Amino acid sequence: MSIFLDTSDIDQIEYFYNMGLIRGVTTNPSIMLKQGVKGGMDGIKEKSISIAKLIDPLPLSVEVTSNDFEEIISQSKEFSSWAKNINVKVTIHGPNGELENLIAVNQLEKKENIRVNVTAMMSVQQCYLAAMAGATYVSIFGGRVNNMGYSSNDEIKKLRKLIDDFNLDSKIIVGSTREALNVTEWLLNGAHIVTCEPNIIKTMIVHPYSKETVKMFLDDAKKL
Ligand code: E4P
Repeated sequence: MSIFLDTSDIDQIEYFYNMGLIRGVTTNPSIMLKQGVKGGMDGIKEKSISIAKLIDPLPLSVEVTSNDFEEIISQSKEFSSWAKNINVKVTIHGPNGELENLIAVNQLEKKENIRVNVTAMMSVQQCYLAAMAGATYVSIFGGRVNNMGYSSNDEIKKLRKLIDDFNLDSKIIVGSTREALNVTEWLLNGAHIVTCEPNIIKTMIVHPYSKETVKMFLDDAKKL
């Protein structure tokens, strides 16, 4: 059970990597856009290679930018050639429910020997089928599930049972963190990995009463 960092911010990655807290990094096009990545595919390549190098041999997920079948395959081949620890993120289906993505997932894993993280999933059903298609990682967006009014913990628990009962190899990544409580709750309910927004980790570490206690120690030390 481990924590990945859900960011493309190199400084944040280095900071938490140096604490020994993270076991991988996940990104997506929206995260990269928000964090100032520019220059289209060249920008994605430059950023991905820097992150992959920094965390090597830990895994980095980089998401394909097209929903065209041939482009999913060719981008996946290209991304995975940038560094041996890069795996590719492919969404469970297209924006209009196009199903060919799972054919791509199966082909990438079985024929191309490329590790795939199937993403943008909101239910146990989707994740189970992505696992059956051979995905190395199945990513469910816990925060968005909770936003929709049903329980991320229930979905994760059911998914872990299916994966264990049927001896599937996929690892469950839960993303879309919203609060500190998400991390331990999702791990305890069966997530193999929670991919975490950096501020959430800070919130997990810092406690107001710890601050007060540390201040007391330091103040008393001066009086010794
Ligand atoms: C997971 O891999 C996604 O990158 C991410 O957690 C999505 O989170 P959001 O719901 O905050 O966009």
